[in-house]
Amino acid sequence: MLKVLIVVLSFLSGSIPFGYIIGKLKGVDVRKHGSGNIGATNVSRVLGKKIGLLVLILDALKGAISVLIVKAVGLPLHYQLMAALFAVLGHCFSPFLRFKGGKGVATGIGAFTVISPINALLAVGIFIFIFAVTRYVSLSSITAVATYVIAFKYLVSPCPDHFFFVAVAGFVIIIKHYANIIRLIKGEEKKYGSEKVS
Ligand code: G3P
Repeated sequence: MLKVLIVVLSFLSGSIPFGYIIGKLKGVDVRKHGSGNIGATNVSRVLGKKIGLLVLILDALKGAISVLIVKAVGLPLHYQLMAALFAVLGHCFSPFLRFKGGKGVATGIGAFTVISPINALLAVGIFIFIFAVTRYVSLSSITAVATYVIAFKYLVSPCPDHFFFVAVAGFVIIIKHYANIIRLIKGEEKKYGSEKVS
């Protein structure tokens, strides 16, 4: 029963589409502009950096709060990871958007930073490095996610059951970048700040 509660509440919390809601409040459906994603990167493209930052914070917070609640009531890592995974799944497959959500990066940052700040710091460091070199947010996100997943085993827990949750979350986030990956391979991905948004 406890697990069902964690799964449902984390999924619902993750599924709040802040990028879409804030876009609508500004009179714009962000799904119809830029990359079409509801995440902070696309919102900043379409509505400016300040609003993009707001979406980044809100999306990260919904992930962080899901895990913090589970942690605050004293439940072990296994349950915390379950909350993190389902918050990411909620964002990626939001029922409020007919199960077509975002890519899960910001929600993952929030949730998995609460799980392991050190591992998250490493992943964010990799993100910053790749972004500084390439200016591709998508490539930086994918590399950072892969870093977190690989390093988890060494920095957080070697337990395969724990690793399962992190690996599934990482896999979903990377798969959600499918279109970006194709564009990166074709050399068609736009560098951050270089896009003309229609
Ligand atoms: O987190 C999403 C980011 O990695 C890519 O976003 O809008 O360029 O597809 P976008």
